[in-house]
Amino acid sequence: MDPIRNPYAPGAGQRPPELAGRDEQLDAFDVVLERVARGRPERSVVLTGLRGVGKTVLLNTLRSAAVRAGWGTGKLEARPDQSLRRPLASAVHQAVRELGPSGGAGDHALGVVRSFAQREPEGGGRGRSAPRLKDRWNPGIQVPAVAGRADSGDIEIDLVELLTDLGGMAADTGRGIAVFVDEMQDLGPDDVSALCAAAHEISQSGLPLVVVGAGLPHLPAVLSASKSYSERLFRYSRIDRLDRSAADAALVRPAAEEGAQYAPDALDAMYAATGGYPYFVQAYGKAVWDRAPGSPITVADVDVARPEAEAELAVGFFGSRYERATPGEREYLRAMAEVAAATTGPSGAAPDALPGGPADEPEAVPTAEVAARLGRKPQSLSPARDALLKKGLIYSGERGLIAFTVPHFGRYLRDHT
Ligand SMILES: Nc1ncnc2c1ncn2[C@@H]1O[C@H](COP(=O)(O)OP(=O)(O)O)[C@@H](O)[C@H]1O
Ligand SMILES: [Mg+2]
Repeated sequence: MDPIRNPYAPGAGQRPPELAGRDEQLDAFDVVLERVARGRPERSVVLTGLRGVGKTVLLNTLRSAAVRAGWGTGKLEARPDQSLRRPLASAVHQAVRELGPSGGAGDHALGVVRSFAQREPEGGGRGRSAPRLKDRWNPGIQVPAVAGRADSGDIEIDLVELLTDLGGMAADTGRGIAVFVDEMQDLGPDDVSALCAAAHEISQSGLPLVVVGAGLPHLPAVLSASKSYSERLFRYSRIDRLDRSAADAALVRPAAEEGAQYAPDALDAMYAATGGYPYFVQAYGKAVWDRAPGSPITVADVDVARPEAEAELAVGFFGSRYERATPGEREYLRAMAEVAAATTGPSGAAPDALPGGPADEPEAVPTAEVAARLGRKPQSLSPARDALLKKGLIYSGERGLIAFTVPHFGRYLRDHT
């Protein structure tokens, strides 16, 4: 069918034509906004899940909901080895601009953002050098910095002061501020702990400011290792693959907008191929649309398009990640895939394994078994494992266990490498 009218959107952070199966999270967030705006105690939301399940697009959608509610919003993406200070300063700067407070209150808020921003150590790195006041990075704020506020150099003190002042300003305007942090697991330990402390302080004082996070499945463990009270600060929402009806809706509704339909057995074949993982749904939807001669889309069209969809995933989803690993790390990944495959089967498969679909593998495998498979001592593999953790290719939700952050990665490795 006409590729120009192809509605599907495979790609990191690409807004899907239909955001399927996320009503629960959207409704819960509306309640958070309403309660926080009224000064009621409420836990903020943290979205967790594997890569490609739709955390970023959901986070963006929550941000839109906050904007519609009249809140000031800002967003940042955490990166390993990058300090929180500058990206957070930019995000809250944006939020203050969106709120547009007039006169003195606005100037004070911007001045505090500026003084917070200017305590950045040189180079923007973590712990490389002591903060230097001379390093006057200009965050693009015209009003003068408020000396003595949020500029001690201690990130925890500074964050509490920054967010308290901004929350107070938001309260005066009768609205709120929401700060969105994607890839939250990549924040450094000091920054995580400071962010939790600040969020804690803010929630206790009933100020209308929330921090909304998204990250890999082990993010709750990262947060609770940092501050034991983090479970009371955030409500964790696991974002997962779509169930059958949501996966169908993600395909059927955008097609209907363009006047096209799917035959029922085509939808069966699509779900078997994608497992309901949103990235796979979009990749298959796109390839099948381009290959199908007309509506309705049939199971034969799915079969014809399969190699193209898999090739697109091999490059765009799997390959781009695999390429980040060194030869030694790749060996480790392959060993993980082999251990996972050896554990699959009627007894090892996840209880929700798809009938007729790819068998689901256990989520996590023991590091000791990976080492045994490679015939190596576990300690000698720590550098490879740590590097893979840092590159975000694997995660450890529990001591002694590791898992791929990318769904179906084991199968990709066994088939392509
Ligand atoms: N609820 C959904 N319904 C349909 N497609 C979705 C949904 N959520 C995400 N997608 C699609 O999945 C892909 C991955 O989304 P993204 O937000 O980047 O995932 P993550 O941040 O979890 O890695 C994108 O192509 C997006 O359009
Ligand atoms: Mg993302």
